[in-house]
Amino acid sequence: MGSAQQTVLITGANRGIGLSLCKEFIERKYTVFGSVRHESRDDPSVVELRKTGASVIEFDVTDENTIAAAFDSWGDKPLDILINNAGALTPHRMWYDVTAEALIDKFRVNAMGPFIVSKIFMPALEKSRSPKIINIASNSGQIAANKDGKYMAYKVSKTALNQVTMSLGMQMEMTKSKVIVVGIHPGWIPTKLTGMTGPDKMDVQIPKIVHTILSIGASQNGGFMDAEGKRMEF
Ligand SMILES: NC(=O)c1ccc[n+]([C@@H]2O[C@H](COP(=O)([O-])OP(=O)(O)OC[C@H]3O[C@@H](n4cnc5c(N)ncnc54)[C@H](OP(=O)(O)O)[C@@H]3O)[C@@H](O)[C@H]2O)c1
Repeated sequence: MGSAQQTVLITGANRGIGLSLCKEFIERKYTVFGSVRHESRDDPSVVELRKTGASVIEFDVTDENTIAAAFDSWGDKPLDILINNAGALTPHRMWYDVTAEALIDKFRVNAMGPFIVSKIFMPALEKSRSPKIINIASNSGQIAANKDGKYMAYKVSKTALNQVTMSLGMQMEMTKSKVIVVGIHPGWIPTKLTGMTGPDKMDVQIPKIVHTILSIGASQNGGFMDAEGKRMEF
């Protein structure tokens, strides 16, 4: 159930889950914008993104100035769905090798990035009749589900992202904004980030995720769910 008028912006759209989400939304006749980093603009993956029919915009989610510049060129159009998908993982390290830089770096990409992109694009979201912010979260962010203590920097940042989702969702409700904010765990899908490992299949997960995105309503605001929309504990 798509609409030619509906606009989606997907961050980190040149590969992995972001690229597949672009393809799925284009197939459903949405107008799709995909973001890429300046440093990746000449990467062959950006050619793949262009082939989908998505419009390519450039910003780094860790650099507020680049996001503000992208928003300046966005113009007056409404944004119906913002998908904060860009993310990064640091290889597993034992605590004595986890540096302050690694912790801060992951926090910037995986938690601060989605918040700042949402903040800067909020005026465009507010112009939509039913705006949604989707944070591509992870079961790695669930504190109670931590079974091995591995990937500390990634887990810390994804836990923080869950708090961004919940707090921003609550503030949207508090201010009677129409914007709905949710976190979605996409499954464990082979991508560059996972070293191409994982039991879930991209072509199975993506339609489920898109169906969930299109189905969510105000009652799920601030929540966390899996690809099928089943509620997950923070
Ligand atoms: N795959 C899984 O099993 C899984 C599970 C749970 C959650 N997730 C989440 O799903 C999201 C997508 O991951 P993926 O698996 O599709 O990984 P991926 O294939 O490695 O894609 C990550 C994307 O994020 C972009 N990115 C990284 N840092 C960025 C920055 N500072 N600014 C803008 N874009 C940036 C990358 O751009 P470059 O190409 O320029 O590096 C790339 O387009 C992430 O948030 C990840 O945490 C994935």
